[in-house]
Amino acid sequence: MKITIIGTGYVGLVTGACLAELGNDVFCLDVDQRKIDLLNNGGIPIHEPGLEEVVARNRAAGRLQFSTDVAASVAHGQLQFIAVGTPPDEDGSADLQYVLAAARNIGRHMNGYKVIVDKSTVPVGTADRVAAALREELSARGAESKGALDELEFAVVSNPEFLKEGAAVEDFMRPDRIVIGTDDTPAGLRARDLMKLLYAPFNRNHERVYWMDVRSAEFTKYAANAMLATRISFMNELANLADQVGADIEAVRHGIGSDPRIGHSFLYAGAGYGGSCFPKDVQALERTARQYDQELLILRAVEAVNDRQKQVLGRKVVQRFGANLTGMKFAVWGLAFKPNTDDMREAPSRVLLKELIERGATVAVHDPVAMEEAQRVLALDLSADQLARIAFKATPMDALDGAEALVIVTEWKAFRSPDFEQIKARLKQPVIIDGRNLFEPPLMTGLGIEYHGIGRSVLTGK
Ligand code: UDX
Repeated sequence: MKITIIGTGYVGLVTGACLAELGNDVFCLDVDQRKIDLLNNGGIPIHEPGLEEVVARNRAAGRLQFSTDVAASVAHGQLQFIAVGTPPDEDGSADLQYVLAAARNIGRHMNGYKVIVDKSTVPVGTADRVAAALREELSARGAESKGALDELEFAVVSNPEFLKEGAAVEDFMRPDRIVIGTDDTPAGLRARDLMKLLYAPFNRNHERVYWMDVRSAEFTKYAANAMLATRISFMNELANLADQVGADIEAVRHGIGSDPRIGHSFLYAGAGYGGSCFPKDVQALERTARQYDQELLILRAVEAVNDRQKQVLGRKVVQRFGANLTGMKFAVWGLAFKPNTDDMREAPSRVLLKELIERGATVAVHDPVAMEEAQRVLALDLSADQLARIAFKATPMDALDGAEALVIVTEWKAFRSPDFEQIKARLKQPVIIDGRNLFEPPLMTGLGIEYHGIGRSVLTGK
């Protein structure tokens, strides 16, 4: 099928590359000429395992092209995926200007039936706004051409994305579910048939598509992310209490996760959730509720708990080393908001680094892929003088020399089985403050390491 993807950000690029991999003819549009040039020269603007190979293979096969040509992009695909950013407004609601601009472009150039597929995470009711924007452009053109364009049909479909960063290609190719919202108009039913055809390769063994109305599909995306964020904040809150009462949150996690009604996933206490989705989507759903004079009390708490949790590592450092860290150095492993990505959006490491620096410390950091991106975003968080107190180290071990403690923020695989003897030898004293509970406390005690996890005080006596 001929497909256009509008926006070559995270979701757009992965969707475009993976749909090309299935044999479709994909045209990716972006307004950013530099990004398009990079992609046309074989580069990839984000770090995502496996993506570079898929892009290269499909470009070589002639099934994947990148361009800034709007008219050509509208002409190319009968399916037009909108995968542009929906950054939070000042008040937390999703900013739809890029989504609506994409819709207007389609209206301005289309000459036959089009299906507009909303892939960006957009508030309930956005499909109607997309349709209205597009119709406005069509009738402006219709007025010029004396009504000839009024006959042009289109449908707006909601097909939210559930990709996880760091596993996006895999998630796209083996989805748990595909949610598609269509309406019952003739144009909508026609769109449904096209979407069925597009996703047929995923439905060979069993049906993975959940068909529903457009508004429910839009809502499903927010409900999923809000539920997952709620589980994390809930576990973080319990972990902090476990620290106080002397229980081990890891034992508790196993104990409750074995109940099939609860399940094991997304119960990991840690340094708080970050990334481009959970913080933004929780806020946007709260904002939607407020527009209907409702307050989502649970989500307000989820957000507040997460803000506090991002400070947990700083708090543990202060508890151990005091409020004034002047003259002290700390090693930090992991900067990205989670492993396998260089994404620093809302990353807990940013909160920790700011606190350590503001309390007078110097810091040596290592992250396997996010160091370049970290330098960019930390320059926004910190003054030049403050940034100069952070040393970026090429290996994890190089960050340790002379540090009071090692603080772990991101659970990269490369941090899971380190050479503990070397850690002990290079740190000033053997202290690990672990924001991701990577190690077993008794093992640490056996190695002579003072270990502070999240919610694990019973085993360390700290
Ligand atoms: C999330 C959703 O999982 C995905 O379906 C949606 O499309 C986009 O948002 P992503 O933000 O890429 O994906 O990352 P995810 O792996 O879900 O992790 C989000 C955050 O929660 C990370 O900061 C992670 O460290 C944290 N987390 C996750 C926990 O703290 N504990 C857990 O048990 C799981």
